[in-house]
Amino acid sequence: MPGRIIAFSNRKGGVGKTTSAIAVADTLHTQFRHSVCVVDTDPQASASYALLGDPLIDEPAVREIYLERLLWDHRYRRARARGLEALRAFRRENVQALQFAHDRPMSLVPISPQFWIHEGRRGVGRMLTPRITPQQEGFRDMLRDLRQQFEFIIVDSAPGASLLFEIIVREADLIIVPCRPDAVSIWGLQVLRREMVHLADDPRLRVLWTMVNPSTNWTGLVARSRDGGRVPFPMLMTTSNPGAEDVFDGINQLVGMGRALDHEHRLARNWNDVYPEQVAPKLERLCREIRSLTRMEERAP
Ligand SMILES: Nc1ncnc2c1ncn2[C@@H]1O[C@H](COP(=O)(O)OP(=O)(O)O)[C@@H](O)[C@H]1O
Ligand SMILES: [Mg+2]
Repeated sequence: MPGRIIAFSNRKGGVGKTTSAIAVADTLHTQFRHSVCVVDTDPQASASYALLGDPLIDEPAVREIYLERLLWDHRYRRARARGLEALRAFRRENVQALQFAHDRPMSLVPISPQFWIHEGRRGVGRMLTPRITPQQEGFRDMLRDLRQQFEFIIVDSAPGASLLFEIIVREADLIIVPCRPDAVSIWGLQVLRREMVHLADDPRLRVLWTMVNPSTNWTGLVARSRDGGRVPFPMLMTTSNPGAEDVFDGINQLVGMGRALDHEHRLARNWNDVYPEQVAPKLERLCREIRSLTRMEERAP
């Protein structure tokens, strides 16, 4: 069974795409023992930083596999042309950089801010042409190959328009749109719907509420999304019991990477330093829903 591609996407920035993507990848990996690869497609490189951290991100072996190098130096395509063995070697490098203490390592295709330069020079200008660029094609092939190697491929999207976004949309099994339950962010969803008309009724699309706080008016939001009104896409983590107190639920404040400094005021180096244990039950419920939506329940305990 091919692996599933889960995209965390929203044209709006700062809505929790990266944080949710990493929290979900980590939970699928540690709690459900799935093999997981995170693909960072945002040149801001937040996911790469979160998983690799300083100073690993600058290691020569990691630089070798930055997404922009794989796509623009045709390294990935060459590796692929040499066959699967080369691809496995390419993956082993990833894994070495990311040896968390698990029997099934989590992998990462990192990115660096250099991607902006590459994209600006040769990419975005061509986005409006109907032909897909060699980089888009390489990226598509990479995603398809990763499907053969991992059970879940978690793609962290860049905000705004990006060269890779159209490929992500085409290939993804599930498109999770993180959104804060505030007016400005919900207007952003309406813009998304207007801009991407073809996604309007796409069954792969789900809103994930983030940065939920006690004053969030769930009941109102539920009503609004059911009356065909203000929330234009269906949402994740709804409960089937409308009378229940938590009619639906999002990822709350605990998931944010807020604890940047530890008690000795050292800056967190990576996600391992900030992973909030308290949110595990909520993330597990979310991951169960993701496994069910992508029909992957039977794959692991
Ligand atoms: N569920 C959440 N609750 C509280 N804060 C969050 C949550 N998710 C993200 N954040 C915080 O919001 C900011 C933006 O999150 P980030 O994941 O970088 O968003 P994006 O990838 O969409 O730009 C970060 O400071 C992050 O710590
Ligand atoms: Mg991000």
